[in-house]
Amino acid sequence: MASLRFIALKLRNGSSYLYNTSSFRAWVYRISTVRSFSAIKSPPSKAVVYDQQGPPDSVTRIVELPPVEIKENDVCVKMLASPINPSDINRIEGVYPVRPPVPAIGGYEGVGEVHLCGAAVRGLSPGDRVIPSPPSSGFWQTYVVKQENQWHKISKDAPIEYAATVTVNPLTALRMLEDFTTLKSGGSIVQNGATSIVGQCIIQLAQVRGIHSINIIRDRAGSEDVKEHLKRLGADEVFTESQLEIKNVKSLLGNLPEPALGFNCIGGNAATLVMKFLRQGGTMVTYGGMSKKPVTVSTSSFIFKDLSLRGFWLQKWMTSDKAKECRSMIDYLLGLVSEGKIKYEMELTPFEDFHTALDKALGKLGSQPKQVIKF
Ligand SMILES: NC(=O)c1ccc[n+]([C@@H]2O[C@H](COP(=O)([O-])OP(=O)(O)OC[C@H]3O[C@@H](n4cnc5c(N)ncnc54)[C@H](OP(=O)(O)O)[C@@H]3O)[C@@H](O)[C@H]2O)c1
Repeated sequence: MASLRFIALKLRNGSSYLYNTSSFRAWVYRISTVRSFSAIKSPPSKAVVYDQQGPPDSVTRIVELPPVEIKENDVCVKMLASPINPSDINRIEGVYPVRPPVPAIGGYEGVGEVHLCGAAVRGLSPGDRVIPSPPSSGFWQTYVVKQENQWHKISKDAPIEYAATVTVNPLTALRMLEDFTTLKSGGSIVQNGATSIVGQCIIQLAQVRGIHSINIIRDRAGSEDVKEHLKRLGADEVFTESQLEIKNVKSLLGNLPEPALGFNCIGGNAATLVMKFLRQGGTMVTYGGMSKKPVTVSTSSFIFKDLSLRGFWLQKWMTSDKAKECRSMIDYLLGLVSEGKIKYEMELTPFEDFHTALDKALGKLGSQPKQVIKF
């Protein structure tokens, strides 16, 4: 007796149907005939677009884009949130090594909810919470259409602002702690830019591993409050740059071991201070240059301390063969968020106020929490 084979079909409204294979083929034929006349399309999308590289506050504008076709392997996602990271600003300024061709839509990571699926999509359904993985350009918009394999389904436990920001900064912190030196529990690291999201993640991920952190921040009004905040996150020591204008910074370490690994995202004097804390044979990893000042190294740091200077760039690390590894690290990091072991300060700003959020991210209003656009 010929066996009947069934295919379960999940529709956009969430309902499921069971077809035997021959009636399914007939159904597909009917649908594809209809679709050739009326393809499924996304809703129109509001997007932050720039037509030329330049100062982000003058070259960006919000425009409405027409619906795009959702092909059979595509998933249309309604974006919920996307951050403004320093690298987004650098891409728009045209000073980032990889620049999307203009006109371009800003935003490199985010989180959204599946809105519509193409006919061949099997692993995602409307309502699923997803993040783009690997990240790519174009997430400052209300609807994004990409192939199914470009989305990673995540749990809905993490607040949207964490899901939107987990890929670029927490992942960088995790990789940098693991990839350069074998850090043992009880050891220590030193970093500047400790108030950045990467910096706050380094403090907390180090603490999860029993590693002490020595942190350097910019001088500012209210620096004692900032120190207290970072210590509540798990920082062992927090110094302002001016506190470190002494001959022997290591005298400030007390019982903490001299760090073998240092992280620099500022450059200039703040980078020199990281090197001063490092022990003989230590390594400083540069991953950002917020002050736009170069890293200068004394001759004695090389001869007498034998320091190693390295660099880290997530975009280079995240080559396609890392895609699977990357997704499991994101799940791990979101798990830590849900357990309350990773937290950092953010401000959710409505999309209509994008340019206010941008001004804050550009530093026009002094030190501000990470700006996350809520769509
Ligand atoms: N290489 C990579 O793959 C990679 C990946 C992720 C991030 N990054 C880099 O990591 C750095 C931090 O990123 P984030 O998103 O975590 O930062 P963020 O949360 O947006 O915070 C910005 C940080 O930069 C500091 N800052 C801003 N302007 C400065 C200036 N002119 N001089 C000195 N410090 C300044 C701020 O200090 P205050 O609190 O004092 O304002 C704050 O600590 C950036 O350079 C970013 O490009 C690199």
